[in-house]
Amino acid sequence: MSRYSKVAITLHWLMAAMIIGNLAGGLLHDFVPTAGGQRLFVMNLHKSFGLTILALTLVRIGWRLSHKPPALPGYFTSGERVLAKGVHLAFYAAMLALPLSGWIMADRNARGQSWFGLFEVPKFGVSKAVAETFHEAHEILGWTMLVLIALHIAGIIKHIVLDRDNLLPRMGVGRARRA
Ligand code: HEM
Ligand code: HEM
Repeated sequence: MSRYSKVAITLHWLMAAMIIGNLAGGLLHDFVPTAGGQRLFVMNLHKSFGLTILALTLVRIGWRLSHKPPALPGYFTSGERVLAKGVHLAFYAAMLALPLSGWIMADRNARGQSWFGLFEVPKFGVSKAVAETFHEAHEILGWTMLVLIALHIAGIIKHIVLDRDNLLPRMGVGRARRA
């Protein structure tokens, strides 16, 4: 069974970890205490990782367009092909739109925004109304991303359990059971 390239595999797992971490940070930040600055710390990490995800998505799309991925296994039905490719495409769209909406939404933060304390991130200068719209968008896109992850994992489990074909080796995890 052919695999994705090492670069694609590294980007996939590095970004999956960062995205899942950022979803957790975003959804749970209300439970983090504010008194000792912990919430500020968590949100600064959230924003810095989010901007890193945005930059890595651009690199990843560039890599994806210039390196052909391994073909899907031949037994996939046409419906499964459309679903798998649709989820992948939606992932790329969400990986761009989610951090971008967060960046625009946080634009009016009086403290400004630094990337891991190293440099200041540029501002868009948006109005309050625009920032609020992007806040809504950020929340909806966050839930959309969670749904996509659930579909993605359900698809992979379906192929492992029902089709007895392990797709994980395509993404660099373990050895293939069947060619
Ligand atoms: C892929 C990257 C990102 C993911 C997965 C993500 C996910 C989330 C989620 C799920 C929430 C909770 C939404 C809610 O219930 O209100 C959230 C909140 C937030 N995000 Fe992100 N985010 C990302 C990137 C960013 C970026 C780049 C910024 C800003 C530079 C940002 C700024 C914020 C802020 C300020 C909140 C808190 C909003 C509030 O107080 O209600 N996020 N994020
Ligand atoms: C935030 C989480 C994740 C994101 C955004 C994500 C995104 C993607 C994308 C975009 C692709 C298609 C690559 C391409 O052809 O361009 C892909 C493939 C793949 N992913 Fe994920 N993924 C995530 C989590 C996971 C997890 C948790 C697993 C393991 C259960 C997984 C296993 C795989 C496998 C095996 C493939 C290759 C199989 C195939 O081509 O469908 N991914 N992923």
